[in-house]
Amino acid sequence: MFLWASRSILAWWALSVILILILVLGLCIRLWQRSCPWDLQLCSTNLAGKTAVVTGANSGIGKFVSQELACRGARVILVCRNREQGEQVLAEIQAASGNNHLLLGLADLSSLASIRSFVRWLLQEVSEIHLLINNAGVCGIPEKTLTPEGLDVTFATNYVGPFLLTNLLRGALERAGSARVVNVSSYRQNYGYIDEEHLTGAGGPLAFNQNYDCSKLLLTTFTGELARRLQGTGVTVNSLNPGVIYTSIMRNLSWQYRFPFWLLSFFLKAPKHGAVPILYLSLAQELDGISGKYFNSSCIVTLPAKPAQDPRVAQRLWDATVRLTNLDKMD
Ligand SMILES: NC(=O)c1ccc[n+]([C@@H]2O[C@H](COP(=O)([O-])OP(=O)(O)OC[C@H]3O[C@@H](n4cnc5c(N)ncnc54)[C@H](OP(=O)(O)O)[C@@H]3O)[C@@H](O)[C@H]2O)c1
Repeated sequence: MFLWASRSILAWWALSVILILILVLGLCIRLWQRSCPWDLQLCSTNLAGKTAVVTGANSGIGKFVSQELACRGARVILVCRNREQGEQVLAEIQAASGNNHLLLGLADLSSLASIRSFVRWLLQEVSEIHLLINNAGVCGIPEKTLTPEGLDVTFATNYVGPFLLTNLLRGALERAGSARVVNVSSYRQNYGYIDEEHLTGAGGPLAFNQNYDCSKLLLTTFTGELARRLQGTGVTVNSLNPGVIYTSIMRNLSWQYRFPFWLLSFFLKAPKHGAVPILYLSLAQELDGISGKYFNSSCIVTLPAKPAQDPRVAQRLWDATVRLTNLDKMD
């Protein structure tokens, strides 16, 4: 009896120690996740008189980024695909920032026609753009899900859309004299590979959710090629991994994937932490003239996956996307 009692006390004691260790480890991970050598509060960049375009501005990281830019005085164009949600977020950001120069732009980034129509509207509203943040993204859409234009939804939203939008806005970016493009990639780009056929729902085999990984690799590769083409124009472009952030990015995945994400949410970064590397690339003065780089979630320049480092691969991808978007024939 005595032996049984002392064993169960020992078991409880061991369990308590393990639980405390897990908690302490979790807190350390939480603190480490949220630390960044660059301090947003210490950055004094003022954006009064500047125009910023943010895609995916209605939720998650994009919403926080838009609010910070608005607080710094920028005329922010919130690009959303849902008018109701966009209007609600615009009102929220207006109230929080006191900035009355915000505009809502409607665009479905997976649709080439929608992007063209948005750009026609935008260029009537503004002639110069100082900051373009390609933040909108989608994850968890089954592979080979096609848009009415025959593009794979994930690749269209995460890569082809930003490619077309940025190219159509190139004139306005150059007119600003000094401008930045920020492409929100992901650490998942390391797990992708490049096959241009994926853009139209064909191409090599994809593991579960690897369409997301590949689309982010294409966005990162595009960043390098665009930087080469923008040399001497005053426009720079960089990409980044925001980290693992608790947002609604997993909404298209089944509950088996969303549940662990929810369970771990305490240890993950909040959108305001995920926004920091994006704001670093957008605001930090030490990045003037820096282009074609990939930054990790601690705002440190890092090498992207191998294919994104190869200019020949990037050139081929560029040419294929120009043909796909008819960029050489229109606008
Ligand atoms: N969360 C993470 O752990 C993580 C990690 C690495 C990279 N990222 C990247 O960070 C970016 C922001 O994501 P988030 O985490 O903030 O997720 P989120 O809250 O789901 O935000 C995604 C945004 O993209 C918009 N969007 C999606 N498809 C669109 C389309 N076809 N046209 C226009 N807008 C579209 C969404 O609009 P709706 O609300 O209308 O769908 C939403 O505003 C994404 O590029 C994502 O890939 C996130």
